[in-house]
Amino acid sequence: MNAEEFEKLAKEVIEYIVDYNGKLRSRNVLPDVEPGYLHHLIPSDAPENPDHWTKIIPDFDRFIMPGITHWNSPMFNAFYVSAGCYPSIVADLLSCGIATIGIHWLSSPAVTELEVIVLDWLAKLMNLPEHFLASSPGSGGGIIQGSASEGIFVALITAKDKMVKRLQAKFPDWEEGLIKAKLVAYASDQSNSSCEKAGRIGSMKIRLLASDDQGRLRADALQKAILEDRNKGLIPCFVMATLGTTGTCAFDDISAVGKICNAEKIWLHIDAAYAGAAFICPEFQYLMAGVEYADSFCMNPHKWLLTTFNCSAFWVKDRHDLTNLFSVDRPYLKANSGDVNGKYAPDFRNWELPLGRSFRALKLWLTLRLYGVRNLQNYIRNHCDLAKHFESLVLQDNRFELVCPAIMGLVCFRLKGEDSLSMELLKSITDERKLYMVAGIFHGKYFIRYAICSRYMEIKDVELGWNIIVSHADQITRQHNS
Ligand SMILES: Cc1ncc(COP(=O)(O)O)c(C=O)c1O
Repeated sequence: MNAEEFEKLAKEVIEYIVDYNGKLRSRNVLPDVEPGYLHHLIPSDAPENPDHWTKIIPDFDRFIMPGITHWNSPMFNAFYVSAGCYPSIVADLLSCGIATIGIHWLSSPAVTELEVIVLDWLAKLMNLPEHFLASSPGSGGGIIQGSASEGIFVALITAKDKMVKRLQAKFPDWEEGLIKAKLVAYASDQSNSSCEKAGRIGSMKIRLLASDDQGRLRADALQKAILEDRNKGLIPCFVMATLGTTGTCAFDDISAVGKICNAEKIWLHIDAAYAGAAFICPEFQYLMAGVEYADSFCMNPHKWLLTTFNCSAFWVKDRHDLTNLFSVDRPYLKANSGDVNGKYAPDFRNWELPLGRSFRALKLWLTLRLYGVRNLQNYIRNHCDLAKHFESLVLQDNRFELVCPAIMGLVCFRLKGEDSLSMELLKSITDERKLYMVAGIFHGKYFIRYAICSRYMEIKDVELGWNIIVSHADQITRQHNS
């Protein structure tokens, strides 16, 4: 493909994207294909000779689009919001267009510096403690990672490294392997699956503690577990608290949990993957009281802050904890970077696993600039209002019950009675492919999650979704009553 062809195709692609987004309501949210459908449409070997570029859009439309689930459809109410917006799409295009990679500061100074600046912007917007800011006098700072799961993993293995170094400094004859084998991590049974995964691959025992009746990590249960483990000769090392759990959007009391972690010298990581974005609205900031106790904090702009996948913002109180673990040097990696002439210019390769890094700060920058804080706040508030509207519809139909009050953009509801009724309801709705929701289980009860996801959602979409739910519920209750 030459430059002229690229220009033509790229223009067509932009038109395709605009048309797709404008007509999302006309498509079923779920595709109507069977597993393996694409194998019948696409050759099993790569073409020997180049295809013509004019075939790309028609083939995308014919082969790929039928197998797409429409995450930005107003009828997509599953999982949590996966963002995307025009400024962010443009930034991705620019970033790919210049194809620059940040390995260290000199490998592309703007890649590093913009990341430092926008993460400070975001931390300030969310009113995170000053010690997380790169511009603060301390040694905190932020970095963009690929996912909240990576953030949890990085925090866990950093906590592990820090604990080993601390104990070996105190007890020089303690062997590293023996210390590592004794380390324990804690989270609630409502924490995201990625915490368990991080423990497994980071070789640290994870205790998932029973949450309270609101799905929160219990401080008394944490204290008890720590004591039990110390009595067994184990070493409590890492706690993950969640602000906005995946199942029901519960908020751990990080003030109570944080006091314990600080007193016990245990690393506290806060996973605010979804709900963190809402802290740009001052009225939600009370939910993160106690955040000053945290050693690390992570939220996903690629969830609820309109930034395209993937962009996960991760802050630490002390960046040396990361660099102590991740710094590995080679002659070809030496550069005039680090803290140059008193100017802060981090080598992000020493903060995480990847060496090369894409220019993800660009999409966060363009999203924040081209929306402006006020519009981003309105977007979050609108999602919360829509969730409240859906909640009021659930409450008006006495066949249904709520599992917990909606605090943000998630409503957890079920048909009263046996779990099988709600299971049947969700299956029947999913089979129709017009509305997509997923299930959860809370304290032994099955429920359905209705998440406000699309940036295009309006009240009419909530009502349409609710009417779909009601019509399926009518059928199910009729069958059960006959
Ligand atoms: C609370 C919470 N933590 C972590 C994750 C994992 O996020 P990621 O896909 O960025 O790894 C999710 C995903 O929905 C989540 O809801």
